Amino acid sequence: MEEGLLPVTGSFSLLDWILLAIIVPLATALRVVQRHYSRLRLVRRELGGGKPWVLRRVPASELSEQFRPDPKLGYVPQLTEVTLVCLGPQHVIGVTSDYEAWILAVLAKKAHVMFEFGTCTGRTAYLWARNSPPDARVHTLTLDPDQTHLYKSDAGDKSQDEADALQETLDKRYLYTGTNVEYKINQIYGDSKEFDDSPYVGQCDLIFIDGSHAQSYVESDSNKALRMLKPGGIIIWHDYRGPHRSTGVFHALNSLGSRLNLMHIEGTSFVAYAMGGAKPFSNCALARFSPPAAGAAQPHVTPDLIASWTRD
Ligand SMILES: C[S@@+](CC[C@H](N)C(=O)[O-])C[C@H]1O[C@@H](n2cnc3c(N)ncnc32)[C@H](O)[C@@H]1O
Repeated sequence: MEEGLLPVTGSFSLLDWILLAIIVPLATALRVVQRHYSRLRLVRRELGGGKPWVLRRVPASELSEQFRPDPKLGYVPQLTEVTLVCLGPQHVIGVTSDYEAWILAVLAKKAHVMFEFGTCTGRTAYLWARNSPPDARVHTLTLDPDQTHLYKSDAGDKSQDEADALQETLDKRYLYTGTNVEYKINQIYGDSKEFDDSPYVGQCDLIFIDGSHAQSYVESDSNKALRMLKPGGIIIWHDYRGPHRSTGVFHALNSLGSRLNLMHIEGTSFVAYAMGGAKPFSNCALARFSPPAAGAAQPHVTPDLIASWTRD
């Protein structure tokens, strides 16, 4: 090789080293800041970009007195102890968080008729069957994997919602399959818009709406659920995640929230409707639930409350 064509290597001047010592840490720091900033932007977007999320956010204790904590000890076992399959760090399709699953399981402790729109892995159906009284019945509706052509999008629905709904339509093997609580579960197949709700009207203590997240489906499932609900019963919707995620759920529920007293449960993507007030399944007179005054202290658990829930 000719002399002079060789690349210059190994001859860093002191200035080069100083520049390198400044640039490398600076670039690393910039990268870290950029990553944090992107994460903060994402969180802020999900929180509505500083705008309120429309539905009022309340602690779970407003949904049911079971979630009233003892001031020193927190949640009490008599009201909230359940059997739970933990999600942990696993990624499982269409799943509720551990806190959400726990809320659903606690609510099942005194529910006799439960209905779920959207079975997926059968996690909620299993937790309901496991934690409810022995004579309880869990009805869970899902698309048959061989009948995904029955899905009916409306003009305003997002194509991604249909893709997600079909992707979450799994083979007919569920978490409850083969367990000793399977006898409590009635697995129903079909498209929820076609589902005939008439046998369930006014029958259900607890309803979970977690089928297709397309707006037209959330609206249709909600209308059916409101007919199916028993006085004193509770409806929970999953995936109320602000104006940038699951927007079909967000818009459908915000609109429903102008007619009904809906609550967004703190620390979850749940929205809940308690027909008749905060004590579920009690056949109490139908009344619009009135929120506590701003700043009012949350009532705590009392021995009477524990007695009323542990009495058969
Ligand atoms: C998010 S996953 C449900 C997760 C489940 N609720 C749980 O807690 O484990 C959505 C489910 O809704 C079902 N689904 C989607 N579109 C549906 C439709 N049009 N009719 C009935 N079920 C539907 C899917 O097949 C899937 O099983």
